[in-house]
Amino acid sequence: MIQAALGDPRFALRKGLLAIALTAVAFLLAPGTLHTQTDCLACHGDQSMTDAAGHSISVDGQTFSASIHGSLQCNNCHADIKGYPHPDHIATVECKTCHADETAQIGGSIHSGHACTSCHGNAHAIFPKTDARSTVYPLNIPKTCGNCHGNPQLAKKYHLPNVYSMYVDSIHGFALSKEGLLVAANCQNCHGSHHILSHTDPQSPTYKTNIPTTCGTCHASIEAAYSAGIHGRAVAAGNLKAPVCTDCHTAHAILQPTEAEFRMQSTPICGSCHTDKFSTYRDTFHSQLGLLGGYVQTARCWDCHQAHDVRPASDPQSPINKANLVKTCGRCHAGANLSFVAYQPHANARDRKLNPGLYFVRLFMNLLLISVLTFFVIHTILWLIRSRLQQIKTKSNGGENA
Ligand code: HEC
Ligand code: HEC
Ligand code: HEC
Ligand code: HEC
Ligand code: HEC
Ligand code: HEC
Ligand code: HEC
Ligand code: HEC
Ligand code: HEC
Ligand code: HEC
Ligand code: HEC
Repeated sequence: MIQAALGDPRFALRKGLLAIALTAVAFLLAPGTLHTQTDCLACHGDQSMTDAAGHSISVDGQTFSASIHGSLQCNNCHADIKGYPHPDHIATVECKTCHADETAQIGGSIHSGHACTSCHGNAHAIFPKTDARSTVYPLNIPKTCGNCHGNPQLAKKYHLPNVYSMYVDSIHGFALSKEGLLVAANCQNCHGSHHILSHTDPQSPTYKTNIPTTCGTCHASIEAAYSAGIHGRAVAAGNLKAPVCTDCHTAHAILQPTEAEFRMQSTPICGSCHTDKFSTYRDTFHSQLGLLGGYVQTARCWDCHQAHDVRPASDPQSPINKANLVKTCGRCHAGANLSFVAYQPHANARDRKLNPGLYFVRLFMNLLLISVLTFFVIHTILWLIRSRLQQIKTKSNGGENA
C-alpha cells in the first residue's frame, strides 16, 4: 500500500522499503508530527483498515497520487490533524479553504447545502474535468446528476420530473452516450454547474426568455432564424405566449425532427396554440392523408410555414406570402402554378359562405359516406341472420345423427 502510493511498480519494492525507513526516521526524529502522505498511508493505505464502527477508512494511495490533489499533503485537507496520534473525531474537510468561488456559487444555488462530493465523488479520487475518470467529465455528467435526478423517490419528494430517463433517450443523450459526442448537450451546458437555479428564476439560463440563447450557444444559425421570425421577436418583446425552443422540442426528451415520431405528434405542437388553424388544417387533404397512413410525408405546418423563421402572410419574406406560394408548394408539388396554389390549406369547409365549393363537396362526401355505411350495416345484419339460420339447421341435422 505504501508501494502503491509511490507509483511505478518496477520501483515499488525499493521505494516501499525506503518509505518505511523514512517514516521510521520521521517518527524517530520528530515524534508527534505527521506531514507526508506516506506517513498517513502507512496506516490508511491498508485496504482492510476500518474504524471502530467497521467502516472502511482505507485510502487508495495510487489513485490519490494520480488525482488532481495528488501533490497535496493529507493534512492540507484534514487540517485539524497536527500530529500523531491524531484525534478520534476529525473535523469535516472544508473544500472552501482553497475553492472559495465554487463554494460561494453553490451557496447561492438550488443545491445550496449539498456537499461538493455529491457531484465530485470520492474525495480522494478527484480528477480534472477534462479527464475521463472525472465524475464531471462531459460524458459522465448526466450519470452524476442522474444519481439524484434519476431517483424516483427524490423526484417525488421534490415534485420534480425524472429528468435523467427522459434525457438518455433524447437526441442529445443518444449522441453523448452512444456516439460519445463530447459536444452534445449535457446537463451542465444548459444548467451550469455550481450556480444552478430553478427555471422559474429570471437569472436562470433555463428561464423561458433565456432559453433561445442557451440553445443558441451550439445551434447558432437556428437561433438566428428563430430570432428573425415572429415567435422570436414576440418573445424578445416580452410576449410569453409565443413559443421558445423547448415549447416545440421539449427540454429533455428532444427528438430528431425528421423522425416519424416527431412529425406524427407535431401537429399539436403548433396546433396547441393555433387551435383555429389546427382544426381547419385537420379538415384538409394534407391531414386526411395522414390519417390514411401518409402522415410522415404529407405537409406539416412547418413544411409551408418554416419551423424557425415563421412569418405572417403579409410579410414579403414569408413562405406563405402570395408571391412565394408557387415556390413553397412547389417543393413537393412539381409543376405547381398560380392556379394550383389558390387551393386553401386552411379552408373551412364548414363555412358555406366563405368556401361554397368545399361546403358542397363536404356535404356530398358526407352523404355518400352515410349511405355507403347504411348499406353496409344492413347488408351485414342480413348476412348474420342468414348464417345463424344455417347454423341452427346443421345443428338439428347433427342431433338426429347422434
Ligand atoms: C498509526 C496509524 C495511523 C496513522 C499514521 C494515521 N491514522 Fe488516521 N486513523 C487511524 C485509525 C486507527 C483511525 C480510526 C479511529 C477510530 O476508529 O475512531 C483513523 C481515523 C482517521 C480519520 C477519520 C475516519 C473516520 O472514521 O471518519 C481520518 C480522516 C484520518 N484517520 C486521517 C489520517 C491522516 C490524514 C493521517 C496522516 C496525517 C492519518 N490519519 C494517520 C490510524 C492512523
Ligand atoms: C482534497 C482534500 C483531501 C485530501 C488531500 C485528503 N482527503 Fe481524506 N477526506 C477528504 C474528504 C472530503 C473526506 C470525506 C469526509 C469529510 O468530509 O471529512 C475524507 C475522508 C478521509 C478518511 C475517512 C474515510 C473515508 O474515506 O471517508 C480518511 C481515513 C482519509 N480521508 C484519509 C486521508 C489520507 C490518508 C489522505 C492523504 C493520502 C487524505 N485523506 C487526503 C478530503 C481529503
Ligand atoms: C451539482 C453538482 C456539483 C456540485 C455540488 C459541485 N460541483 Fe464542482 N463541478 C460540477 C461540474 C458539472 C463541473 C464541470 C464544469 C465544466 O465542465 O465547466 C464542476 C467543476 C468544478 C471545478 C473545476 C472548475 C473549472 O471551471 O475548471 C472545481 C474546482 C469544482 N467543481 C469545485 C467544486 C467545489 C469546491 C464544490 C463544493 C463547494 C463543488 N465543486 C460542488 C458540478 C458540481
Ligand atoms: C488545500 C487546498 C485544497 C483543498 C482543501 C481542496 N482543493 Fe481542490 N484543488 C486544489 C488545487 C491546488 C487544485 C489544482 C488546481 C489546478 O491545477 O488548476 C485543485 C483542483 C480541484 C479540482 C479540479 C479542477 C479542474 O481543473 O477540473 C476539483 C474538481 C477540486 N479541486 C475539487 C475539490 C473538492 C471537492 C474539495 C473538497 C473535498 C477540494 N477540491 C479541496 C486545492 C485544494
Ligand atoms: C438542452 C438543454 C438541457 C439539457 C441538456 C438538460 N436540461 Fe434540464 N432543463 C432545461 C430547461 C430549458 C428546463 C426548464 C423547464 C422546461 O423547459 O422543461 C430544464 C429543467 C430541468 C429541471 C426542472 C424540471 C421541472 O420541471 O421543474 C431539472 C431537475 C433538470 N432540468 C435537470 C437536468 C438534468 C439532471 C440534466 C442532465 C441529465 C438536464 N437537466 C439536461 C434544459 C436542459
Ligand atoms: C445529491 C443529489 C443531487 C445531485 C447530484 C444533483 N442534484 Fe439537482 N437537485 C437535487 C435536489 C434535492 C433538488 C431540489 C432542491 C429544491 O427544490 O430545494 C435539485 C434541483 C435541481 C434543479 C432545479 C429544479 C427546478 O425547480 O427548476 C436543477 C435544474 C437541477 N437540480 C439540476 C442538476 C444538475 C444539472 C446536476 C448535475 C450537475 C444536479 N442537479 C445534481 C439533488 C441533486
Ligand atoms: C452543448 C451544445 C448544445 C446545446 C447547448 C444544445 N444542443 Fe441540441 N444538439 C447538439 C448536438 C451536437 C447535436 C447533434 C446530435 C447528433 O446529431 O447526433 C444536437 C441535436 C439537436 C437536435 C436534433 C437535430 C438533428 O438534426 O439531429 C435538436 C432538435 C436540438 N439539438 C435541439 C436543441 C434545443 C432545443 C436546445 C436547447 C434547449 C439544444 N439543442 C441545446 C448540441 C447542443
Ligand atoms: C414553433 C416551434 C419551434 C420552435 C420555437 C423551435 N423549433 Fe426547432 N424545429 C421545429 C420543427 C417543426 C423542426 C423540424 C423542421 C423540419 O423538419 O424541416 C425543427 C428543427 C430543429 C432542428 C433540426 C435542424 C432543422 O432545421 O431541421 C434543430 C437543431 C432545432 N430545431 C433547434 C431549435 C432551437 C435551438 C430553437 C430555439 C432557438 C428552436 N429549434 C425553436 C420547431 C420549432
Ligand atoms: C406556445 C404557443 C405557440 C406555438 C407552439 C406556436 N405559435 Fe405561432 N404564434 C404564437 C403567438 C403568440 C403568435 C403571435 C405573435 C405576435 O404577433 O406577437 C404567433 C404567430 C404565428 C404566425 C404569424 C401569424 C399570426 O397569426 O400572427 C404564424 C404563421 C405562426 N405563428 C405559425 C406557427 C407554426 C407553423 C407553429 C409550429 C411550427 C407555431 N406557430 C407554433 C404562438 C405559438
Ligand atoms: C399546405 C401548406 C400549409 C400547411 C400544411 C399549413 N399552413 Fe398555415 N397557412 C398556409 C397558407 C398558404 C396561409 C395563408 C393563407 C390562409 O390564411 O389560408 C396560411 C396561414 C396560416 C396562419 C395565419 C397567417 C397570417 O399571417 O394570417 C397561421 C397562424 C397558420 N397558417 C398556422 C398553421 C398551422 C398551425 C398549421 C398546422 C396545423 C398550418 N398553418 C399548416 C399554408 C399552410
Ligand atoms: C411537404 C410536402 C408538401 C407541401 C409543401 C405541400 N403539399 Fe400538398 N400534398 C402533399 C402530398 C404528399 C399530397 C398527397 C399526394 C397525392 O396524392 O397527390 C398533397 C396533396 C395536395 C392536394 C390534393 C390534390 C393533389 O394534388 O393530389 C392539394 C390541392 C395540395 N396538396 C395543395 C397544396 C398547396 C396549395 C400547397 C402550398 C400552400 C401544398 N400543397 C404544399 C405534400 C405537400
